[in-house]
Amino acid sequence: MPNIVVIGAQWGDEGKGKVIDILAEKSDYIVRFQGGNNAGHTVVVKNRKFILHLIPSGILHKNKKCVIGNGVVVDPEALISEIKKLRSEGIEVNSGNFFIDERAHVILPYHKILDSLKEKKKGKAKIGTTRRGIGPCYTDKAARCGIRMIDLIDKELFKSKLEANLKEKNRVFRKTYNAKGFKFSEVYSQYLKYAKTIKPYVKNCAVILNEAINKGKSVLLEGAQGTLLDVDFGTYPYVTSSNASVGGAFTGSGIGPTKIDKVIGVVKAYTTRVGEGPLPTEFPPDILEKIRNKGEEFGATTGRPRRCGWFDAVVARQAALVNGLNNIVVTKLDVLDELKNIKICTGYRYKGKVYRILPADTGILDSCSPIYENHKGWLKETGSATKFSDLPKEAKNYLDRISELLGVSIYMVSVGSKRSQILKGR
Ligand code: IMP
Repeated sequence: MPNIVVIGAQWGDEGKGKVIDILAEKSDYIVRFQGGNNAGHTVVVKNRKFILHLIPSGILHKNKKCVIGNGVVVDPEALISEIKKLRSEGIEVNSGNFFIDERAHVILPYHKILDSLKEKKKGKAKIGTTRRGIGPCYTDKAARCGIRMIDLIDKELFKSKLEANLKEKNRVFRKTYNAKGFKFSEVYSQYLKYAKTIKPYVKNCAVILNEAINKGKSVLLEGAQGTLLDVDFGTYPYVTSSNASVGGAFTGSGIGPTKIDKVIGVVKAYTTRVGEGPLPTEFPPDILEKIRNKGEEFGATTGRPRRCGWFDAVVARQAALVNGLNNIVVTKLDVLDELKNIKICTGYRYKGKVYRILPADTGILDSCSPIYENHKGWLKETGSATKFSDLPKEAKNYLDRISELLGVSIYMVSVGSKRSQILKGR
C-alpha cells in the first residue's frame, strides 16, 4: 500500500471519515496531523455509527497503529473521554496501538474560555468557531508559550509553564473581557491527573513513523477540516487555525514529502460549510431543507445545521491546486438523487470581472454572482450501485464534469454511509 495523504477539498465535512476507514484497511499507520477535537469524523461500521474527534478513524480496524501527530492540538479531557467511549464499545485502545507525539500542544481551560470570549466580543464579525479552544491554543504555539505533551508529563516543567501562562492569561481575562480567571491549583491538579492517564501514549512519533516507513510499512495521513478552512489557503479569516491542506501533513507528522506517494482530495457532490464566512453557491431555502435532511447535514461536533449549496468548482479547484491532488473521491452522490436539475458553479462574476480562480479577497466571495452550468438530474436511486458503470448516465456525466473542471481523476465515489457503498472511479 502506498503512503497516502487524504485532504478535505472543500470546507470540511466532506466525508473523509469513511474514505479513511476504507483506505485504513490496507495501511499500517493512520495519522492525524492538524486540528483538534473541532473535527468530527463519522464512520458507520455494520450499522454502528462512530464519531471520532481526535483519535484517527483507523482505530476501528484491528491491528492498526494510530498516531496523533505533533501538529494536532489535544484537549486531554476530550481525548480521555474518547478513549473511554471507544473502549466501552469494544474498540481496543492501548499503548501498543495508539501514540501521541510529545510535541503536540495541549489545550488548556483558558484556551476554551478565550475562544468563546473572543467570539462574543467580535459580535457580528464572529468566525463561528467550534469553541473548542483551537485558535487560542495555536496562537500560544506560534507565540512560543504553548504547553506541549512533553511539558505536561513533566510535573515541574508543567508547573512553571502553567504559572507563567496563567499570570498573563488571568490579566487578559480581567482587563480585556471583565471575566474571572483560573486558579492555578485547580488547573494544575486536574491536568496532572490527565497527564498520568495520557503518559503511556506519549512518544516521539516522527521517529516511529519514519522507522516504520523505512521498514516498508505504509502510512495514511488523515486530514481534518478542509482546504478552504486552511489558515493560509482558505477563506481567511473564516478559517481554522491550522494548515488543513497538504503542507500540514508534513509539518504535523514529521514525515517528509519525498515519502508520500499519493495525495487524495475528498469532495462532496455538493458544497457545505459550518460557521460564518462566504458560501457563494448557497441553496435557496426549498432545496436547502431537502438536501440538509437527506444528507444529514448537521455538525458531528457541535450539532449545528450546515449551510449547503451547489458544487463549487472554483473552491474545489483551489484545493486541487494547492494540494497537488493526484485523485479525488466524490462523496454523497446519492443525496442528489431526487433533484431534477443540478447546477455546478464554474466561476464568479464580480463588478464585471470573471474569476475562475479563488480570489484572496473574501469580500468578493461575499458579493459575487456565481456562474452556473445546468445539469440534468438522474432521478434514480444510486445507493445500491456496486460499480461506476451501474450509475445512471446523468450521474456519470455529472461526475465526469467535476473531474474535468478540477483536472483530477476520480478514485472512488461514495453513494451512502455504509462501508460497502463505495464505487471505484472509472
Ligand atoms: P475552529 O476550528 O473551532 O476555530 O473554527 C473555525 C472555523 O472552522 C469555523 O467556521 C468552524 O465551523 C470550522 N470548522 C472547524 N472544524 C471543522 C470541521 O471539522 N468541519 C467543518 N468545519 C469546521
